[in-house]
Amino acid sequence: MVTEEIIQEEDYIEFQIIDEKSTLEQNKYKIKREPYYYRHLIHKKIISKIFQQLSSKKIRTVIHNLIKKLGFNPEKSYKIIDVSCGYDDLLIELAKRFINSKVIGNDLCWKQLLSLPRKKKLSNLTLTTRNILSPEFCQKENYDLIICKNTLHHLPKSGQLCLLKKLVRAGKKVIIVEIENPLEYSFSSFIWNFYYRKFLKDDGLNFVYQDEFNTLLKKVNDKIPFVKIINASLKTIKGNYLFAVIKNYKKYTPNNTLGREGREW
Ligand SMILES: C[S@@+](CC[C@H](N)C(=O)[O-])C[C@H]1O[C@@H](n2cnc3c(N)ncnc32)[C@H](O)[C@@H]1O
Repeated sequence: MVTEEIIQEEDYIEFQIIDEKSTLEQNKYKIKREPYYYRHLIHKKIISKIFQQLSSKKIRTVIHNLIKKLGFNPEKSYKIIDVSCGYDDLLIELAKRFINSKVIGNDLCWKQLLSLPRKKKLSNLTLTTRNILSPEFCQKENYDLIICKNTLHHLPKSGQLCLLKKLVRAGKKVIIVEIENPLEYSFSSFIWNFYYRKFLKDDGLNFVYQDEFNTLLKKVNDKIPFVKIINASLKTIKGNYLFAVIKNYKKYTPNNTLGREGREW
């Protein structure tokens, strides 16, 4: 585990990754563990490793392939953000793959960020704890690539569309990944969700069905006509994962919040 150095930057807190060994040594008396810290540790170190080939690794492979297909070149420099990265390996993989890029991992929960599996300091990686539902999020910023993975079900239904519109406004390319309602998809998805809720205390319950997901995307498309959306899905033991790749063909100025007809989105 690593801990954080808190830096006040503008109006949000930023963590800088610092050396694992020295950090633990310096902060071992200061760290207050999550109540379910050990459960998450068991999940990350054992359960997830056993089953990753059947689910999370499959999803990450698809994301990496999509990024390649979208034309991203690891040698070049981009601004990439995962808006709710949790402690998923994807962020670290991106930071390592796009070593010349600025890679930002955001998550409301800083303890999740501190659990990101990294062996050494990655100088191109920045961690932030911004609330993606706050009006300021993605208002004055632009990204080459935005990733939003398994997050919509943690947001109120009203926040889901609002977030998608903000992401499309701020990102040239946006990849959305969301599990289709696991409570009703299959027996195995139900069991996995039960495990997440009861063992890991995951509280996201605003799941979407495939048609709801498509409706959300259509609404984004209706409001932002210069956007192209590609849909796909991937079946895993944890359930059916819905993918959307959104390409924004209009170049935005950071403060541009107006749609085609000049209305606020
Ligand atoms: C199911 S986890 C997904 C984590 C990671 N993207 C993955 O696929 O493994 C959802 C994450 O969204 C974060 N989250 C929920 N609401 C948020 C908000 N309003 N702002 C930022 N992050 C949020 C949670 O802290 C959690 O880490």
